[in-house]
Amino acid sequence: MGELGVTLAPWRPAVAHALHRNRSLVYSRYVQLATVDEYGRPANRTVVFRGFRANTNQLLFVTDRRSQKAHQAVIQPWAEICWYFPKTREQFRLLGQIRLIAVDTPDPADHQLRQQLWQQLSDPARLQFTWPQPGAAAAGREAFTGDPPPNDEPVAPFCVLLLEPERVDHLELRGEPQNRWLYERRGDTWGSQQINP
Ligand SMILES: Cc1cc2nc3c(=O)[nH]c(=O)nc-3n(C[C@H](O)[C@H](O)[C@H](O)COP(=O)(O)O)c2cc1C
Repeated sequence: MGELGVTLAPWRPAVAHALHRNRSLVYSRYVQLATVDEYGRPANRTVVFRGFRANTNQLLFVTDRRSQKAHQAVIQPWAEICWYFPKTREQFRLLGQIRLIAVDTPDPADHQLRQQLWQQLSDPARLQFTWPQPGAAAAGREAFTGDPPPNDEPVAPFCVLLLEPERVDHLELRGEPQNRWLYERRGDTWGSQQINP
């Protein structure tokens, strides 16, 4: 994961095109991320796509170390993203393994990526990482006030979540008939084929 010089996967131009054509819709960067919990049950939620890691095909997200998805990433890394682009009426499903970059990462490049994504957050977004334990019984309002933490150093719960896709299923509703492509990674190479919708 994360080596330099990884070739752009063949599905990347289609995602880039969809992002471009849907750029006027802020919510076209919201994706549904499904993970598997410790009992083998699905867990699904919305997260914001933060771009691709440079020179890789990995998708970037940010999250709180105390969230369920962060725990699930550690115990069971398989995950799938479902991404719908309303303007172009197409869906991408990206299956792969997720990995968490937390405060104690020993890897300098990962450490730098975590700093960088923290710096790109808005004040209100940074403030959320100082809130009380997510999912615990509601704390009083005073626990949610205060100044946003400084943007030079991430607070401990802040994590980067990476998804390394292995299979990408792209469905375009537009067209008679609809178009559907399947891309699968085998080691360092990607195969692709058009399949029935
Ligand atoms: C539009 C929208 C965007 C969101 N973006 C994020 C995000 O980028 N990262 C995140 O951790 N949670 C995000 N959330 C909150 C998650 O959907 C979820 O409620 C929270 O992370 C707890 O989920 P979990 O306990 O299953 O991990 C977002 C929610 C919405 C509605």
